[in-house]
Amino acid sequence: MITEADNVLLTRVGPTTPMGRMLRRYWLPVCTSRQVAQPDCAPLRTRLLGENFVVFRDTSGRIGMLEEYCMHRRASLALARVEDNGIRCLYHGWKFGVDGEIQETPNHCDERFRRAFRAPAFSVREAGGLIWAYIGPKDLEPSFQTYAFFEGPEENRLVFRLNIAANFLQLWEGGTDSSHVGILHCNLANPEWKNKPGFEPDRTDYTSVALANGDNAPDLEIENTPYGYQYAARRQGKPLADGTRTYSARVTPVIFPTGRIIPLAQYQFFVFEVPRDDVSTSTYILAHGPKPFDRVKMKAVLGLDNERLWNEDDCNYRAGPDNLFGQDRSKMDVVWSGLGGLGPEDASIGVSMGPIVERHKEALVAADKAVVRLRERLLESVRRHETGGTPFGLEITDYSKVRSLADTDIPLDGCWQDLLPHNMGPGPRRPAMAGA
Ligand code: FES
Ligand SMILES: [Fe+2]
Repeated sequence: MITEADNVLLTRVGPTTPMGRMLRRYWLPVCTSRQVAQPDCAPLRTRLLGENFVVFRDTSGRIGMLEEYCMHRRASLALARVEDNGIRCLYHGWKFGVDGEIQETPNHCDERFRRAFRAPAFSVREAGGLIWAYIGPKDLEPSFQTYAFFEGPEENRLVFRLNIAANFLQLWEGGTDSSHVGILHCNLANPEWKNKPGFEPDRTDYTSVALANGDNAPDLEIENTPYGYQYAARRQGKPLADGTRTYSARVTPVIFPTGRIIPLAQYQFFVFEVPRDDVSTSTYILAHGPKPFDRVKMKAVLGLDNERLWNEDDCNYRAGPDNLFGQDRSKMDVVWSGLGGLGPEDASIGVSMGPIVERHKEALVAADKAVVRLRERLLESVRRHETGGTPFGLEITDYSKVRSLADTDIPLDGCWQDLLPHNMGPGPRRPAMAGA
């Protein structure tokens, strides 16, 4: 059971809070590359951990990130001109480089001033279709972390951003909650629910999300890892051809401070729930696989093709109590949730819980074990950081071999861990639980 005090500790992300201090120790996604695609394109106003920033791409293609408010008299640089390898404030024309260098101050001719000061600029990297930033203490900047989705050709990766009006933790918890998949997402996971005569579920590459196993009360086997934890949702498997009994395992690594890898048969989803502030989150969804994706088809699978609720320009997910969280009840005979697609289903449920979940009022059951572990590990990491220790995973630089596992039938005496040798789980491997 989470106390109200621990709930505050887990969910508040401003600069003076324990969670905010810990999150600031990591590199975090701050926008997508598409949002600042071209040199000298419009600057992007963005929000991270309760602070406002402006991201821009200069004439030479370099990315810069500054505090949103101009260092002179605080006009927003979201209004600025981006030109001649810098960003120029509209108010008095001060111009800054990507590293914060003060290039011009038209209303103040003292060159020594320009040399003596710098605009507040932050370290940024561009990788995997995302712009990443580090906004923590300058002397504690960690190594940059690499993921599998950084690899391969651009067309084998799709990136989406959703700005959702809910605290990051409730969205992240949804991503570690295996037992909702076959229910909330049953249009995709168990399309037979409609059970109409002649109904044939679509099972193309894109809808292979149609998960083989519809058991909604899996046994959860969880183990801590240096970056957080991983868990296997274990269900009854199908016997092998020779009659060997099996269990089915679906494994999700949960990577601090905001990430997880969702297992699918044909590709993987990497998802990061990055707090914009205490009550809003940027969810970054990255599909990554061995073949090129069709963006239009994937948008349809994710339910991101309804412009009434979301578009790629502002990325804001428009669901709240006033529009019944985006639900269309007239479609509920064919769309189980009335929400249409994975993205809206997860996002709307997250928003429907209120801006910050009142966790002390929950009624948890065994199926929520992975959610509980997320809270425990986060609290452990925050407390460790507050007492001078290193938060989980900060020292790991290479996540490129960490994988999820889609539903896989494994003989009862086999170990799912053996299929994921690079996930940094504890060894030695244990025998599988009897009778699973
Ligand atoms: S406020 Fe930006 S130049 Fe004056
Ligand atoms: Fe979900």
